[in-house]
Amino acid sequence: MKTHSDPIDGDTSPFARVNDREFDASLRPRSLSEFVGQKALKEKLEICLRAARERKETPDHILFHGPPGLGKTTLAYIIAREMDVNITCTSGPALEKVGDLAAILSGLSRGDVFFIDEIHRLRSNIEEALYPAMEEYKLDIILGSGPSAKTMSLSLPKFTLIGATTKSGSLGGPLRDRFGIVERIGLYPAEELADIVKRSAKILNISIDASACFEIAKRSRGTPRIANRLLRRVRDWAQVKSHGNITKEVADSALLVFGVDRVGLSEMDRRILEVMIKNYSGGPVGLSTLEAALGDDADTISDVYEPFLLQEGFIERTARGRVATKKAWQHLGIDKKDSGELF
Ligand SMILES: Nc1ncnc2c1ncn2[C@@H]1O[C@H](COP(=O)(O)OP(=O)(O)OP(=O)(O)O)[C@@H](O)[C@H]1O
Ligand SMILES: [Mg+2]
Repeated sequence: MKTHSDPIDGDTSPFARVNDREFDASLRPRSLSEFVGQKALKEKLEICLRAARERKETPDHILFHGPPGLGKTTLAYIIAREMDVNITCTSGPALEKVGDLAAILSGLSRGDVFFIDEIHRLRSNIEEALYPAMEEYKLDIILGSGPSAKTMSLSLPKFTLIGATTKSGSLGGPLRDRFGIVERIGLYPAEELADIVKRSAKILNISIDASACFEIAKRSRGTPRIANRLLRRVRDWAQVKSHGNITKEVADSALLVFGVDRVGLSEMDRRILEVMIKNYSGGPVGLSTLEAALGDDADTISDVYEPFLLQEGFIERTARGRVATKKAWQHLGIDKKDSGELF
C-alpha cells in the first residue's frame, strides 16, 4: 500500500493524543463486513464494488462527507482492499502544483484508488486539472511560460478517486458533480458504537462488560474514533484504580475523571453552551461571536462540536444564529427564569 503523505485524520476532536493515530490504525476495520453500522451505505458500496469487479471496470469516483472520525478514511482503505488494488493517499492542502498531481497520477496502476482527504481544501489550479483527469483520464500540463509555452496531454490509467471532506458545503459544484457516488456519513447510534467498543476491546484484549461498552458508546458523541479513545482512557483508569474487569461503574467513574459527563458532553461542549447561555442569554449567537468568545476556530466549532449538540437537541440553528435549547439550560442547571426570560 503506497502513501503519498499520511492521511490527515483531522485530530481536532476532543481527547486526541499523540499516538492515537497509530491506535486508530490498529483498530481500523479492513473489510466491509468488519465495518460496523452504516447499513444502507455499506449495501450501496457492496453493489457498486461487485458490479465493477464483475465488469472488470474501476468503480465510479466516490465522495464521502460527514463529521470527523466516522470512517471516511477507513472506507477508502476498505474499498482499495476489496477491489484488490493499491491506494495512494494525499490531502487537499498537500497538493501545491499541477506537477505534484501529475507525479502521483502517472504513478498509478490501472484500477488504483487515489484518496484525497480534506478535498475541500484543494487549490483551484489543482481542482481544474482534476476535472479532465476524472472524466477522461488525461492531464493537461503546461510546459514553459509566455508565448513559447506548450500544453502536453498526459494519458492516465483508469483510477478511482475517493474524496473525503468534513465540509461538503465548501466543495465547488463542478467538482462535486464529477463524483458518481456522493455519500454522507452520519453520527452512529449508541448500539452501533457499543459494537465498535466491543470489537476494539477484543482486539486490544481488554476485559469489559457489555453494559460498560454501552456506557462508553452513549458518551462518545456518535463517533467511532471517540469511542475507541474513551475505551483507551477507561482502560488506563481501570488498570491504575480498579485492577480488573471493566464494569459500567468503572467506566462511569473513569469517564467523569476525563471530563465526559453523563450525557456525553465534553468540556468544550459545555463551554460552548455556557458561553451561549451566560454571555448571550441563550442566543441567537453567530458563529464568529462564538469563535471570538471561545478562542477556537469557527470550522472546529461547526464541524466537530455542533453536529452532536444539534443532534442531541442542545442547540438549534436559526437564520439569526445558534440558540441554546431548554435542554441545554436544564443540563447546565441554569434556570432560564433567573435570566429574566421565559421559555
Ligand atoms: N464503522 C466503523 N466500524 C468500526 N470502527 C470504525 C468505524 N468507523 C470508524 N472506525 C474507527 O474510527 C477510527 C476513525 O475513523 P476514520 O479515520 O476513518 O475517520 P474519518 O471519517 O476519516 O475522520 P477525519 O474526518 O477526521 O479524517 C478508525 O481508525 C476506526 O478505528
Ligand atoms: Mg480521515
